[in-house]
Amino acid sequence: MLIRPRRNRKNPAIRAMVEETHLSVDHLIYPFFLVDGKGIQQEIASLPKNYRWSLDLLLKELESCLHVGLNKFVLFPALPDALKDATATYSYAEDNFYLEAIRTIKTHFPEIVLMSDVAMDPYSSDGHDGLVSEGKILNDETLPILGKMALAQAQAGIDILGPSDMMDGRIAYLRNVLDAASFTDVSIMAYTAKYASAFYGPFRDALNSAPKYGDKKTYQMNPANRREALLEAQLDIEEGADFIMVKPALAYLDVIAYLKETSSVPVTAYNVSGECAMVYAAADKGWIDYESIVSEILLSMRRAGANGILSYFAKDFANFLKK
Ligand code: PBG
Repeated sequence: MLIRPRRNRKNPAIRAMVEETHLSVDHLIYPFFLVDGKGIQQEIASLPKNYRWSLDLLLKELESCLHVGLNKFVLFPALPDALKDATATYSYAEDNFYLEAIRTIKTHFPEIVLMSDVAMDPYSSDGHDGLVSEGKILNDETLPILGKMALAQAQAGIDILGPSDMMDGRIAYLRNVLDAASFTDVSIMAYTAKYASAFYGPFRDALNSAPKYGDKKTYQMNPANRREALLEAQLDIEEGADFIMVKPALAYLDVIAYLKETSSVPVTAYNVSGECAMVYAAADKGWIDYESIVSEILLSMRRAGANGILSYFAKDFANFLKK
C-alpha cells in the first residue's frame, strides 16, 4: 500500500494540522424568548434548558453568556393572546416590551450584537406570518406591517434585522424603509430558504404562535426543493440581504452547502428548536452523549458551509470549550 490515509490521523498534532473545519463561539448566535414582567424564568416544556425570560433576569443571563465568550443573540417575544390582533399592531406599539428590551440590552451591553425577529406570527391572532384574508395569506399587504415593525426595531437600536416571514419582496421593502430613515448601518439577515418544517414545534410552544388554522405551505418552502433555494437566495441578495439563512439546518445540510457554493454573501444556519429538542430528549434518556453529539452537530453545519449558526446549544457548547 503506497497511500495510507491513516498516517495523517496518527497523533493529535497531525490531526490538528489537517483539520479542515473550525468551530468556536464566534460562529454562534444564541436565541432567547422574552416575556413581559419581572422575575420570570419559565422553562419551555418541549424545549428543556430554554426559558421564557423577563428582561431583568435576561440581563443577568446575557452577562453570564458574555463571560463564556458568546456575544451574538437573537430575541423572540412571547405575547399573551390579549396583545395579539389580526394586523400585529403591538409589534410597533411605543410601549412594546420587546422594543424596550432591545433599548435596554444595547444600553447595558453595547458590545452585544443583537438580532431581532421581523414577522407577524408572534403578534398575530391568526398565528400566521402574513395578513390573512378569507383564509389567504396576503403578501404585498403584509409588507408595510413588516416595515413598521422593522423601523421600530431599528429606532430601538437593533444591529441585525431577522425577517423570518418568507413574504416575497420583503428584503427590498425593509432595506428601503431603513435607508430612507438613515439606518444604513442596520444589517439584514434574511431567512432565505425557510422550509415548511415540523421541526419548529417547540418554538411555537414557546411563543404560543402555532397557526390557528391551515399551515404555512403557501409561503414557507417545500422540503422537497433544493434548486428553489437558489432563486430565494438570488432575490434576497439582489434586494440587499447581508446574510442568507437556511432553516432548519440539520436536515438541510445539502441546502447550506449548495447556497454557500452558489452565492457571494455569508450563509447562516438555524439549528431549530425541534432539532435541539430531539437531542435533549435522547441525552436525557442516556441514549447518546450530549456533549459529543452537540459538538458534532454544530461542526456538521460549519462543514456544510455555514459561517454562523443560530442554536439553542450555544451556551452549553461555549461551556464545553471552557472545560
Ligand atoms: C416564525 C418563526 C419560526 C421560527 C422562528 N421564526 C417558526 C415558524 O415559522 O412557525 C422557528 C425557530 C425554531 O424552531 O427554533 N416567524
